[in-house]
Amino acid sequence: MSNDEMKKRAAAAALDYVEDDTIIGIGTGSTVNYFIDALARIKHRIEGAVSSSEATTQRLKACKIPVLDLNAAGPLPLYVDGADEVNCHLHMIKGGGGALTREKIVAAASDLFVCIADCSKQVDVLGTFPLPVEVIPMARSYVGRELLKRGGQPVLRENFSTDNGHLILDVYNLAIVDPPKLETELNNIAGVVTVGLFALRPADVLLLGTADEVRVLK
Ligand code: A5P
Repeated sequence: MSNDEMKKRAAAAALDYVEDDTIIGIGTGSTVNYFIDALARIKHRIEGAVSSSEATTQRLKACKIPVLDLNAAGPLPLYVDGADEVNCHLHMIKGGGGALTREKIVAAASDLFVCIADCSKQVDVLGTFPLPVEVIPMARSYVGRELLKRGGQPVLRENFSTDNGHLILDVYNLAIVDPPKLETELNNIAGVVTVGLFALRPADVLLLGTADEVRVLK
């Protein structure tokens, strides 16, 4: 079974967490796109969605799912999103698609975070996938030097600007043994907007698509 089929399987399983007449927080990425396609089939049951990126907004609109502003929606019962890496504590690296800041905001405003992923995303130690860090453009070099001091190798994501008009540094060579500690530390570097570590607010449920089944981890 291909990774795409496993993503699709995990995405379909997330429909079980959707309650009638609610507003759903929606992440970004190829796995989430499968979730949006599945959600479109039951769109009459929900009020709408809060989006984590311009790309997701476009896809929701194409499926005729109402897109609501987070400020108007208030606390959300459910957030569904993918991950680039996830460990056994459901700490994640996210931001491969560059949507980490809005993803972190919508996740923070949600009661339940359901992560959907194919089994290639599961790791023992986070950090093989380069850690995305969104930075204010004028702080790019300073933040880069601070990341180097911590043993990382920051690489500017070429020809890329986030939905918020910022840059992304992808940080290689970090073996992230204490994700909440590193998230706190990197969050405190001046000029960092968002660190793509989701450990202080991890997922609550992981739906992991495998060749045989969807494994549920909590
Ligand atoms: C987007 O910025 C990311 O956080 C995605 O959630 C993550 O990259 C997973 O993407 P895929 O579902 O495409 O693997």
